[in-house]
Amino acid sequence: MAEGSMWRGIIHAYRPFLRVAPIDPITLHEGNTPLVPAPRLAQAIGFPGSLYLKYEGLNPTGSFKDRGMTTALTQAVAEGARAVICASTGNTAASAAAYAARAGLRAIVLVPAGKIALGKLAAAMAYGATVLAVEGNFDAALALVRRAVEVYPIALVNSLNPYRLEGQQTAAFEICDQLGRAPDWLAIPVGNAGNITAYWKGFCAYHQAGRIAALPHLLGVQAEGAAPLVRGHPIDQPETVATAIRIGRPARGPEAAQAVRESGGRFLAVPDEEILEAWRMLAALEGLFVEPASAAAVAGLRRALAEGLIPRREELQVVAVLTGHGLKDPEIAMRVLPVPVQVPADWEAFRRILEPLLERPPEPRAETEAPLPRPSVP
Ligand code: F0G
Repeated sequence: MAEGSMWRGIIHAYRPFLRVAPIDPITLHEGNTPLVPAPRLAQAIGFPGSLYLKYEGLNPTGSFKDRGMTTALTQAVAEGARAVICASTGNTAASAAAYAARAGLRAIVLVPAGKIALGKLAAAMAYGATVLAVEGNFDAALALVRRAVEVYPIALVNSLNPYRLEGQQTAAFEICDQLGRAPDWLAIPVGNAGNITAYWKGFCAYHQAGRIAALPHLLGVQAEGAAPLVRGHPIDQPETVATAIRIGRPARGPEAAQAVRESGGRFLAVPDEEILEAWRMLAALEGLFVEPASAAAVAGLRRALAEGLIPRREELQVVAVLTGHGLKDPEIAMRVLPVPVQVPADWEAFRRILEPLLERPPEPRAETEAPLPRPSVP
């Protein structure tokens, strides 16, 4: 590939749109992730329009956080920071650790003890961060971090840091560049509410610059046990299988609520069973292995279609954001999927197992639209 055409990360690609210090970026060449058509999944959830999946798990540390971390760390370096700190359900921790390593800065990450997926913990430690397991949830960890940065000269790299949103809005730019327009709806999982806020900022900036003619509606999806933006009040004990979005007091909640309102969209809550069902469908129907929080976007989309919030119209273009890679959370797969069949190392025994498999179609079948158990808002 010619040097001139090499992808060099989101700051290089979108510099005129980004407010960030004009120094050489701290980058892992993040961004430029695929927007994958998902016709089998669309059929399974009863959507006759065009469904696309923005596969953010293909970023360098396996989640969308890298888009915001390249800008946050670049700015931190420009401002002379020596250390960065964040609270995290895991992905922010891994991303901050990687970009801090690249910049030669110390990273201190606070995670809820026992409540982060193994792949995230492993990565944060491998990148050399100091990982502190807080005896409390994400909200408690974030409260400690906010206090720390008031007292000590450490750069906060949670999405409260405005440079995080600068970078994360580039995912919206990419979707518009890839589609040649904005989608009609964007389904996105919401935890601390930074990402949905960043997407809206990105769509609005592109709209203002004349790059897109219309803005999308935002569908912000939360897990039923951790849905402060659906309920309209904080949740003290958030619980969900999607540990990435196990958050009861979203720091960017008010901005996210405003973005959803301005877009003419909605927040929806989905139960864990529907998140896991969407997670299986993504992998089995489209070959996309994501972490449970990402599947929440698809579960929300399915529910929005079932409830008539999004019309089942052929001309509609919908994008669901798959925020993190499935390899982040191998434990969930091991917990909910059947264990592999044991096969003796013997030809006759193997044949007896193999032959019936060749007569049956693979599960689950794309044609079956599984029923939804109950409405999202009781
Ligand atoms: N999906 C994944 C995989 C995430 O890791 C997160 C947030 C979200 C969705 C929600 O994004 O917080 O901007 O609304 N993870 C944060 C973390 C909280 O610490 O890694 P949000």
